Amino acid sequence: MEESRFREIMLTYGQEEVLEKVSSMNDKDKARILRQCDFLDFTFLKALKEGEKERGFIEPIRTMKLAEIALKKDEYERIGVEAIKAGKVGALVLAGGMGTRLGSNHAKGMYDIGMTKPVYIFQRMFENMMDVVNKTGAWIPLFIMTNIMNDREIKEFLVEHKCFGYNPAYIKFFVQDMSPCVDYNGKIMFAKPDEFAMSPNGNGGFYSSMVNAGLDKLCKEKGIEYINVFAIDNVLQRIADPVFVGATIESGCATGAKVVKKADPGEKVGSICLEDGQPSVVEYYEMTDKLMQAKDADGEPAYDYGVILNYLFRVKEMDSIVKNEMPVHVVKKKVPYLAESKDSPTGYITVNPDEPNAYKLETLSLDFVRMMGSCLPFEVVREKEFAPIKNSMGIDSVESARKMLIAAGYEL
Ligand code: UTP
Repeated sequence: MEESRFREIMLTYGQEEVLEKVSSMNDKDKARILRQCDFLDFTFLKALKEGEKERGFIEPIRTMKLAEIALKKDEYERIGVEAIKAGKVGALVLAGGMGTRLGSNHAKGMYDIGMTKPVYIFQRMFENMMDVVNKTGAWIPLFIMTNIMNDREIKEFLVEHKCFGYNPAYIKFFVQDMSPCVDYNGKIMFAKPDEFAMSPNGNGGFYSSMVNAGLDKLCKEKGIEYINVFAIDNVLQRIADPVFVGATIESGCATGAKVVKKADPGEKVGSICLEDGQPSVVEYYEMTDKLMQAKDADGEPAYDYGVILNYLFRVKEMDSIVKNEMPVHVVKKKVPYLAESKDSPTGYITVNPDEPNAYKLETLSLDFVRMMGSCLPFEVVREKEFAPIKNSMGIDSVESARKMLIAAGYEL
């Protein structure tokens, strides 16, 4: 980035101290910082001023439940299989996260959850995809979103493991954008003397990054009309599930969202709902007691279904979501930072905090549910489809996912 442009951006976002620090750097360090700025999205800093938007009027949404799905399963499956065979359905794995809670030094997908043999998270994903390939006889085009820190190791890992049997001709990688990390005073932090602290710009950054990589055009060329977007860390999930695909197509909705019945009203999953009449998701930390206790027309808990980050989005509507319209969320996280130290020969050390110390700026894919305009919430069985890995032990962990995989009949 040109220094003049950098200066302009810093002044726009009240980063005078940072500007001063960079201006006083030697040429080599300054050049490195300016190179880094080419892939940092500073527009996210505006979220610090704007704050989180107030929620609108929340009401229950109708969810397509298991019994209703069972009645039309064959028809939905037929529609889904037909769309997959016609090449209308792609898949997109969100693998750009940092997996900080898991605490591995590598990309989450490279984590081995096996007990008697290696079973990598990526391996589980490809095995799940092979179920539908074997059923339909068609390869599903797969987009893999990485970040600049894990892109190379993910590609090397998948080459080494021959994509676990998946046809590489159907795989396309793209790298998501990064956003700067700021301290609690809103100042951009440094990770090294010549590098800003940064993080991937959240799992909602997938479509704008796909567009930057020209992959939206590829979707059009190949006739891909729907994309199944999912998280890397749910090792039990069904990908491009024909019944889900068929039900969403038949509903005419621009989005299908897989949901599970919540384990308890406070479970840490977003609850699907209507917000000001539009389908939406209320995050678990936004659930008030009133919402948790609310009942629907049948006397059932009104917000009892949680999203599992497995969505089917219609490409046509995604096209109309411009990047700048995505809300940016300000999230407290642990961010390693540079601190002055008399004991270090360089005069600096990197501090790895034990507690959250900074804000990360992120877009979230759950915001697509509201922005796409229409959504079919589609219930799935937790024990068959939802084993997320966030931590190494305890809730949503390697430990809990192993138990669920074993109970579902997988060998580990
Ligand atoms: P999480 O929000 O659980 O984040 O991601 P994470 O990176 O896996 O873990 P923590 O919070 O650092 O411990 C849900 C999904 O979204 C992806 C993740 O890779 C995961 O599949 N993700 C998250 C991205 O692709 N990019 C991001 O910027 C953030």
